[in-house]
Amino acid sequence: MANRIIVASGKGGVGKSTFTAGISKALSERDKKILAIDCDIGLRSLDILLGNSAEIVFDWGDVLLGRCSVKQAIIHGDVDFITAPRNADNAFTGEAFRKMVDSVSEDYDYIFIDSPAGIGHGMQLAAFGADNAVVITTPDNVCVRSCSRAFNELESLGKENIRLIINMFEAKQVCKGRLLNIDECIDETGVQLLGIIPMDRKLSFVSVTGDEIDEYSPSSLAFERIAARLEGEKIRLIYQ
Ligand SMILES: Nc1ncnc2c1ncn2[C@@H]1O[C@H](COP(=O)(O)OP(=O)(O)O)[C@@H](O)[C@H]1O
Ligand SMILES: [Mg+2]
Repeated sequence: MANRIIVASGKGGVGKSTFTAGISKALSERDKKILAIDCDIGLRSLDILLGNSAEIVFDWGDVLLGRCSVKQAIIHGDVDFITAPRNADNAFTGEAFRKMVDSVSEDYDYIFIDSPAGIGHGMQLAAFGADNAVVITTPDNVCVRSCSRAFNELESLGKENIRLIINMFEAKQVCKGRLLNIDECIDETGVQLLGIIPMDRKLSFVSVTGDEIDEYSPSSLAFERIAARLEGEKIRLIYQ
């Protein structure tokens, strides 16, 4: 049975899809079977980060509308992937989404569900498919406040084991007092830390260049450490 994790945030553009792609690849390097599901209806992007846009035929909306089987909607690769529908539909209920995720849960070690930003209907639907959660924040006041709100919402939806990722961290800017430090992010969000991903310019070029991030880049090493922690290893906190 897969560990099913929703990747959520209060604010948009904080790195949910980047995290989903990065952690999925890092765990697949450890020979884990991974399924990543883009849940951002109308604003899908994970296919670009996973490099399989050209292979898309069906999305999970087609599955819920009975146009194809879930197996037909999965694009197979190092990381298996199902893309999000372009348009919303009344048939897209949390229960139907959960049923689809349940039907493939035995085939995977992890299923990551890349949620839309905010705490609205889209995030609630995504949460139906998951048991556990990761919330992402960047180290600034606006983001941590909205992350805390997303955390509360996920708790009220019964998600267990909700953990925090601090993304786009820059120690130099923290020293200059321009960004919140790690303790402040943890205290303000009230969420237990899972890991820190540094600001890494190469990551922001990936959607254009399609390049693989090299394995020794700061962000790749951060994803490896987070993957190890998810696997139950005790890994020291390192930040740049
Ligand atoms: N650690 C990082 N360092 C540099 N750029 C990043 C990092 N994480 C994400 N980005 C960039 O930030 C932008 C938003 O990321 P994205 O994953 O699409 O956010 P979300 O899914 O939360 O909307 C993208 O251009 C992405 O490349
Ligand atoms: Mg996204």
